[in-house]
Amino acid sequence: MTPTFRTSRPGSAADPSLPHLILIGLPGCGKTTVGQAVADKLGRTFLDMDLEIERREGRSISQIFGEKGEPYFRKKERELTEELKLVGNMIVSPGGGWVTSDGAIDLVRPPSKLVYLKVRPATALKRLGPMRMMRPLLSRPNPEAELERLMKERKARYESADHVVDTELYGLQRVIDDVVTLASALR
Ligand code: S3P
Repeated sequence: MTPTFRTSRPGSAADPSLPHLILIGLPGCGKTTVGQAVADKLGRTFLDMDLEIERREGRSISQIFGEKGEPYFRKKERELTEELKLVGNMIVSPGGGWVTSDGAIDLVRPPSKLVYLKVRPATALKRLGPMRMMRPLLSRPNPEAELERLMKERKARYESADHVVDTELYGLQRVIDDVVTLASALR
């Protein structure tokens, strides 16, 4: 099977021996913003896994959760992860819960490297603002408590990343620069 990712730049993701750089962390940590900026800077392909799943399913993440349930979404995430093995050299942003999918990390690492964009739940929520309503797990009455719960559940897996970039300490540009440095060192 040849993967057809929406965001592929022809040729740039062709070599499966080159590692992907995968950004992990809570919703609101900046995976998409940082990933896109890093890919642009390095001329590499950026893959937003949620967008790719939405494209393939023809519906939004909220609709997928609402109509088919979270387990179905996780299955789609896993299928896409398996396809990542067939290509390389991308900057990848999975959803924040990707790490919870059993064996997902082991499917791609090695050779991929994981960078954890660390953020506190309260800051993540502030950054998301009204966009939290697009996250089915956060469109509930107490989203901060929900993020705290998710953090507790996922902390160990987030911290198993190869590198940690604390997004609370520096501005966005510094975070992007740090990830560019890490991504460049991978080649
Ligand atoms: C989820 C995070 C979302 C999306 C889905 C589930 C999660 O992605 O995959 O709503 O379980 O944390 P972002 O981390 O990009 O918001």
